[in-house]
Amino acid sequence: MNKLRNATITAVGMYVPPKILNNKYFEKIVDTNDEWIITRTGIKERRIIEDGATSDLAARACQDLFNNSKVKPEEIDCIIVATVTPDMFFPATACLVQDKIGAKNAWGFDLSAACSGFLFALKTGASLVESGSYNKVLVVGADKMSSITDYTDRNTCVLFGDAASAVLLEPSESMEFGIIDQLLFVDGSGKDALHMKAGGSLNPATHETIDKKWHYIYQDGKAVFKVAVKGMADVSYDIMKKNGLSSDDVAYLVPHQANLRIIDATAERMGISKDKVMINIHKYGNTTAATIPLCLTEYYRDGKIKKGDNLILSAFGAGYTWGAIYLKWSLA
Ligand code: COA
Repeated sequence: MNKLRNATITAVGMYVPPKILNNKYFEKIVDTNDEWIITRTGIKERRIIEDGATSDLAARACQDLFNNSKVKPEEIDCIIVATVTPDMFFPATACLVQDKIGAKNAWGFDLSAACSGFLFALKTGASLVESGSYNKVLVVGADKMSSITDYTDRNTCVLFGDAASAVLLEPSESMEFGIIDQLLFVDGSGKDALHMKAGGSLNPATHETIDKKWHYIYQDGKAVFKVAVKGMADVSYDIMKKNGLSSDDVAYLVPHQANLRIIDATAERMGISKDKVMINIHKYGNTTAATIPLCLTEYYRDGKIKKGDNLILSAFGAGYTWGAIYLKWSLA
């Protein structure tokens, strides 16, 4: 497809709440242990917000981005918030973020693609820039997973955390840098394995839905694990091959952080060594739409990403949704 110009990431920001729940905490509230959680998932700690909703996580991540760049809120053209935990069904969380950060000239919307949300939002935002329609698009991945987590269910409660992270997309100085290519997919036949049963138009909230705990995450972990391992590994490998990249050409795999075993399998399929895989699952758990931009922000700020680095971003999530994006980093 012909593009007028490329979109590239020109600023990053993040917010993780200060409250930490470590694995020892979960030993006290459900039948689990630190060793099981680390060996089966790679998670040691996760963060939980005590003073706000998803829009607060998102607004704080955007504020961090503004504090670390020359861009001002009023210059933002559009805000896309990827989330499955919006503050409310409506208005969109993007509207609440717009107000909280003072982006008075922006429009915006929410995008729901669960753990693939950031990738889908990044491509959507990039298209707005590539078409020449807009110059400054904020793409935010934000989830308050603690708001839909059942802390009596050991199968899910140890996995998730709260966080937000944001990137700014602007036109790239050349076609060489920025969002180069993507492979994105959905398969709704996977809906039964990972979902929240009630609160939507299928099962509106009633006393019965609350009694049945239908307002929490439901996951058939084994079923999701099987398709996620294959889906994420295949799509990451396929985007490399489609763009003629060898494993040596890739500076980093930037995977969604749901399970260290899924990440390891993806890196193995791509032939990429562990030192070229961005990891922060041990600190934050699965923060759904926030995991990938959190990795990008932390590794960039640690001086680990260089201008010209080839990055492969990949994710798998509820829907099913999955995909990969090839990005050539342009920030010095
Ligand atoms: N502590 C101790 N035991 C636990 C546990 C916990 N926190 N959670 C589950 N178990 C138990 C199960 O009850 C099961 O016991 P049983 O055999 O007596 O029934 C046993 O551990 C094995 O369960 P299983 O589901 O096979 O574990 P697993 O190795 O698959 O790991 C997940 C579970 C959830 C970590 C893993 O399946 C997973 O990561 N799934 C995919 C997640 C994902 O990618 N989601 C998409 C994006 S959100």
